[in-house]
Amino acid sequence: MGKKKLVVFGLGQRGGIYAQYAKKYPEEFELVAIIETDANRREKAKVEYPETLIFENYKDFLAQQIHADVVAVATQDADHKEHAIAMMKGGYDLLLEKPISNNKKDCLDIYRASLKYGKKVVVCHVLRYTPFYSTVKRIIESGKLGEIVTINASENVGYYHQAHSFVRGPWRNKKESSPMILAKCCHDMDILRYLMDETCLSVNSQGGLYHFNAANAPEGSTAYCSDCPCTDCIYKAQTIYTSENKKWMAGYFTTKELTEENILADLPKTQYDRCVYRCDNDVVDHEVTILQFENGKTATHTMTAFSNTIYRDLKVHGTKAELVGVVEEGKLEIRYFGGKVEQVPIDLSQANVGGHAGGDFYMMEGLYKTLNGEPAVGVTYLDVSVESHLMSFAAEESRLHKGKTVKIKL
Ligand SMILES: NC(=O)c1ccc[n+]([C@@H]2O[C@H](COP(=O)([O-])OP(=O)(O)OC[C@H]3O[C@@H](n4cnc5c(N)ncnc54)[C@H](O)[C@@H]3O)[C@@H](O)[C@H]2O)c1
Repeated sequence: MGKKKLVVFGLGQRGGIYAQYAKKYPEEFELVAIIETDANRREKAKVEYPETLIFENYKDFLAQQIHADVVAVATQDADHKEHAIAMMKGGYDLLLEKPISNNKKDCLDIYRASLKYGKKVVVCHVLRYTPFYSTVKRIIESGKLGEIVTINASENVGYYHQAHSFVRGPWRNKKESSPMILAKCCHDMDILRYLMDETCLSVNSQGGLYHFNAANAPEGSTAYCSDCPCTDCIYKAQTIYTSENKKWMAGYFTTKELTEENILADLPKTQYDRCVYRCDNDVVDHEVTILQFENGKTATHTMTAFSNTIYRDLKVHGTKAELVGVVEEGKLEIRYFGGKVEQVPIDLSQANVGGHAGGDFYMMEGLYKTLNGEPAVGVTYLDVSVESHLMSFAAEESRLHKGKTVKIKL
């Protein structure tokens, strides 16, 4: 298989993972260009990727007609339409961050542009590539569970991750970014559709913003954590961003090395220092969705901010056995009706770039294979991804109408 030329468009948290992958596996990808508007990130990139061309403006990149096999579009949700279409028009295939876009019309416009320009677009539905879900898919296809009748999945966002991304951060506000069921759960809609292997016909959803609002602000609390007297608040930004397993989130407000000293110096008065009860957030902190599939099959999905850690769990109920697992624990067991319980090991040893329980690593590996014309498990193109996005849009419409049934239609 031949080496492929990669461009990273938006060198943030996600774009950084794709650039790192190329650096670690130079026999697979050559990082030929980076497009990034943030001056600090460009400066850092010059040191880290000295061989790579760096652009501030994507129009300058396009003007140079640089040869590349794929552009990873990893800018924010609301910019995907402009950026994705410009790159396809410029002649490039895409690795496109999810969500495709934050509204149905733009998703369909991107899809139509891919047909018009004849470009391949792989959407970053990282869950499909995780060893966990690919094992689940294999087990379902083996017939061990019998026919799948219903699936129950939950996404536990984690109290601190909710506060960071969906209260203080980029995805806090539906108008500026996306509804939660799209921003956070389009992966889950995609995986439920993938595992069920039936068309989703209709959706009901209920949920809301229960906790992160002014009514729950502790007495005496102030607008910013840095000068707030409530030192025992579990959402105190200084505590969260300096905790060892939560420091990665500080990369959203500092480009310096993530030491406690640097984090505490750069945090005050940024958006991430804000009191979680006094932000301009409107996305939900809990939502329950019911999906009706072809042939009377069903699935439920629960999204909640209220968990101690970030994890997803899954129960697949077949006519012969049930499968139960927690993605992040790499635990999976099959409980045969009236029979034994089989433990299924999950191997994560190779996945050494990115996160998502191995999903980021295996997605890049899959992209490399698919660009070389090799079969790659889980790789999804825009037509399939659009379907799961429509499930998310339908769920949001249902939620806004107190759980009414919304049919899925293109
Ligand atoms: N696949 C997943 O599991 C997953 C997880 C998290 C986020 N995402 C998605 O990935 C995308 C990026 O998220 P992120 O967390 O990396 O955000 P980020 O803010 O860290 O990164 C975005 C980067 O794009 C740059 N940028 C913005 N406008 C630009 C422009 N016009 N030209 C060039 N660069 C520009 C920003 O400066 C920033 O560096 C979002 O759409 C997000 O929803 C996907």
